[in-house]
Amino acid sequence: MLERIREIQAQAQAELAAIQDPDGLEAWRIKYLGKKGVVTQLLRGLGDLPPADRPRIGQAANQTRQTLETALAARRQALEAARHAAALEAERIDVTLPGRRPRLGQRHIISRTIREICDVFVALGFNVVEGPEVEWDHYNFEMLNIPPDHPARDMWDTMYIGQVGAPMLLRTHTSPVQARYMETQQPPIRVVVPGKCYRYENVDATHEMMFYQIEGLAVDTDITLADLKGVLDTFARALFGPHRRTLFRCDYFPFVEPGVEMAIDCHMCHGRGCRLCKGSGWLEIMGAGMVHPRVLEGVGYDSARYSGFAFGMGPERVAMLKYGIDDIRLFYANDLRFLRQFS
Ligand code: PHE
Repeated sequence: MLERIREIQAQAQAELAAIQDPDGLEAWRIKYLGKKGVVTQLLRGLGDLPPADRPRIGQAANQTRQTLETALAARRQALEAARHAAALEAERIDVTLPGRRPRLGQRHIISRTIREICDVFVALGFNVVEGPEVEWDHYNFEMLNIPPDHPARDMWDTMYIGQVGAPMLLRTHTSPVQARYMETQQPPIRVVVPGKCYRYENVDATHEMMFYQIEGLAVDTDITLADLKGVLDTFARALFGPHRRTLFRCDYFPFVEPGVEMAIDCHMCHGRGCRLCKGSGWLEIMGAGMVHPRVLEGVGYDSARYSGFAFGMGPERVAMLKYGIDDIRLFYANDLRFLRQFS
């Protein structure tokens, strides 16, 4: 019997030494020390022994139980200590390492281009103002000398929002802000208007449904086409370099008369003709013209006394020409590999 107790103890200790986790410890405890455990059974069975053997064997069995209980506690503590040490090791922080610098964002290339363009005009005495992207047909077209059913409406593929008392749309250009601004202000006026515009376009390398425009408007007594040319010439050289040449050609927009289109000489071929300028030597960058008398009259100005010039350009196009980008879709595809190049 004593032999058997020793064997049980030896086996239990061997098993205990191999246990690595709390679940294993609990299973072991139940197996040996639980209510129906091996050692407990042993102690219960003492009553069946001859009275003379009971003290000796009982003492041995009790001792085994105590030994195993102590061993269990020790093993539990050892496992806990090991787990703690492993956790400390895993979470160790090297406080001597240099800190990790958070990645700083940057302005989007189009935002930067807009600022750059506006800054040129601000230096010439223009103010920066804004207007709504959701616009009335009234301002987007009618106040700009484009009545309903006017064929010139085909120039803008308009996204109408619906009839909200009057027809409402997403503005197709920033020109409606001309009318809005003049309605509330008196000349002299010098403003630039950056903002988003929308058109129902077939999206391709040069057309997006959402894009920006920067509108310009100057109204005063005695403003002539020469002022328009002088201001836009200055702008072209400020943005594209001091040797830039400009070309003004006739163009048509219902809200200007005369209407022009401004081009700069192609910086890739210096006017000789290449892929960028499609062989012409010139790159168109904006529409412009003298504010139509009807537009002035529409906001209550005396067109005999006041005259003005207006222009509208796309900063995406400006950035494409400036940085040699051949697809407008890259700007809003949010591929950081593309965007981070302009830091
Ligand atoms: N609003 C015109 C367009 O979107 C551009 C323009 C603005 C032309 C001002 C002349 C004067 O095409």
